[in-house]
Amino acid sequence: MRLFIISNRLPLKTTRTEAHFAFTPSEGGLTTGLASLTMDIEKHWVGWPGMYFNNEKEEEEVSEHLLQYNFHPVFLSECQVEEYYEGYSNGILWPLCHYFFSYIRYENSYWKAYQEVNHLFLETLLPLLADDDIVWVQDYHLMLLPQMIREKNKKVNIGYFHHIPFPSYELFRVLPERAELLNGLLGADLVAFHTHDYMRHFVSAAERVLDLQFQLDKVKHNNRLIYVDAFPMGINYDRYHDAILNPKIQHKAKKLKQTFGDSKLILSVDRLDYSKGIIHRLKGFLRFLENHPESIGQVSLAMIIVPSRANVEEYSSLKTNIDEMIGRINGQYSKINWTPVYYFYHSFCFEDLIAMYSIADIALVTPLRDGMNLVAKEYLAVKRDTPGVLILSEMAGSAIELNDAIIVNPNDTEEIANAIYEALQIPEEEQQASLKNMQQKIMKQNVNKWAADFVNELHEIKERNIKLHKKRIGETKTKNIALSYTEAKKRLFILDYDGTLVGFKRKAEDAVPTEILMDTLKKLSENPQNHIAISSGRDHDTLERWFGHLPITLAAEHGAFFKENGKWYRNADEFEWDNELLRIFQLFVDKTPHSKMEIKNTAIVWHYRNVDSWFASLRERQLVNELMEPCARLNLQILRGNKIVEVKSPLHSKGTEVQRLLAQDDYDFILAMGDDTTDEDTFRALPEEAITIKVGSISEIARFYLDSQSETIPFLRQISNQGRINLE
Ligand code: UDP
Ligand code: G6P
Repeated sequence: MRLFIISNRLPLKTTRTEAHFAFTPSEGGLTTGLASLTMDIEKHWVGWPGMYFNNEKEEEEVSEHLLQYNFHPVFLSECQVEEYYEGYSNGILWPLCHYFFSYIRYENSYWKAYQEVNHLFLETLLPLLADDDIVWVQDYHLMLLPQMIREKNKKVNIGYFHHIPFPSYELFRVLPERAELLNGLLGADLVAFHTHDYMRHFVSAAERVLDLQFQLDKVKHNNRLIYVDAFPMGINYDRYHDAILNPKIQHKAKKLKQTFGDSKLILSVDRLDYSKGIIHRLKGFLRFLENHPESIGQVSLAMIIVPSRANVEEYSSLKTNIDEMIGRINGQYSKINWTPVYYFYHSFCFEDLIAMYSIADIALVTPLRDGMNLVAKEYLAVKRDTPGVLILSEMAGSAIELNDAIIVNPNDTEEIANAIYEALQIPEEEQQASLKNMQQKIMKQNVNKWAADFVNELHEIKERNIKLHKKRIGETKTKNIALSYTEAKKRLFILDYDGTLVGFKRKAEDAVPTEILMDTLKKLSENPQNHIAISSGRDHDTLERWFGHLPITLAAEHGAFFKENGKWYRNADEFEWDNELLRIFQLFVDKTPHSKMEIKNTAIVWHYRNVDSWFASLRERQLVNELMEPCARLNLQILRGNKIVEVKSPLHSKGTEVQRLLAQDDYDFILAMGDDTTDEDTFRALPEEAITIKVGSISEIARFYLDSQSETIPFLRQISNQGRINLE
């Protein structure tokens, strides 16, 4: 088993030198974080080497160099970089996911290039891959890749991690390719995010765009269970915490301290990015100087800004704005022996960065949006014996864990200014105490644990999917069931109607029996060895109208009525519907467009199939809440079914109907099929050897499942030797 990390960038960036090529570490949290993984597993990395080449010879030379680290480059042309990387990834997905809607530059060619490059990654990966490998796709550049891999390899274990925020559905829905992107991600077994908020947004987008129904953290899609989870990414804590013990770095730190003199030093470190709130931060610092003139000459801000995505327009204009603003502040406030803002527009090597972290009195980390932000964690880890205060934006994913920091709203200039002032007043012991608290968290939740947690969960999901697959009815199981059918003398079939024998329709009255269903039931019931029962929640008039002419048992309203030998019987008393219940149901129909009420002889039902999924789930919980007290008082049962809430007597159910049927005869073949929670009552009441089949989803209780309703009729025909048909 090997781990394949697939990300847009390899951890090493290639640049052209006069002689040949140079390889330097890539910037950004994804590669710096993942590159320091020390997991005990053979690791391979597939990604872009960071530049384009003139010919194949150059590509070969670079490939050869990278292969020694198990890095497999994906070579992109200049045009692909422009349209896939700068265009779709950083001109559309990045601003969208960071809520910079107005920065989106939409071009149709970007999407084409995005598809094409995702496919190029697939082509590089596939020849390297074995079935028992783990593939871990990283970030928004490769959202289509999980599905592309899945189509080619059904067995391999695929995970996806989204390193940036996942926006709310209202924003995500504007993307013309929203469905393709979500489907792309759902090729993975596990889709993960830094925080539960991003996870919540993803679930809501997938439910609304793809009309899926998650059960807590999982969804069944294309015959697999896909899980969603939050794993806050960590850093290699020991690497940062121990780095300052290195005498070379200590020396650097000492020299830097002398350079900055006695001024208190505030540090900020970012890639040049509008999501990092650099301008807002400068405004906050300026306000601090204005509010506290006594700090002039005493407190400086050192800004390390790493060049990034310079060919994307918004990035180059941001650079101009930052240059101008720093120029203005320094022009106005500088003294001969004091500079308000030190500005470094280049990347720092690891040792220099550690030295800067170590001498900084305050880290000012105020992104407007940030998936996680590792700089905040790195600063804390480096603070071994020296004090320090972290001011952190509430919009950074890391703010959820690092709640001992001074948390600010990065849009609020005054709040940033006040936070700086507050940080400077905190006594050293108090600073140390907060640092210790946060260090304990990031020491534990480090990058290795993050990756191990992810990979372990991915592995468990694979096991669960294998187990699940064993329950799935395919060719072999169908043949075995058909054999038991043939050998049996007395057979009982208990069949649910909606969602089992017919598919769901927007209007319940449109879900009428199909011709092929009627033919199948007719043939099954003509065999004297078969006893066919339809056990449904539908009312008895409807069942009678559709199936009254067939020699079969009908059970209506969840066992409240049953028809045996041509005659209907009633199990429950007719209800005199309580006004209060009717009023509650009516209230929810009025408050929830597209929902409706059905009044049966023995039950009241609220149908919400056509209601928006989020709204429906809110109203469903509210309705159940409202019904709780009157139903307890009236001794009625509340049933939560497939897009329905039903109130009925607890004295009868699909389970009581099973008991009644079993009492009539001895059967040596019992087969029950159903799609809903109410059918679980049927399954539960049957003996262990019965063939219980859940349709369209997975049940803990049923022994088997069929993938979808469209397979039900072909299956029934095949096992009863009526010949194969394909309804799709
Ligand atoms: N970084 C770096 N060189 C620098 C400045 C920063 O390698 O000169 C690293 C920094 O140590 C951190 C990463 O870049 O690991 C930035 O990650 P973060 O999650 O804070 O932001 P991102 O760039 O991923 O949005
Ligand atoms: C963020 C993204 C990463 C990306 C990094 C650097 O951390 O989540 O996927 O690699 O920024 O950006 P770049 O465009 O230089 O790769």
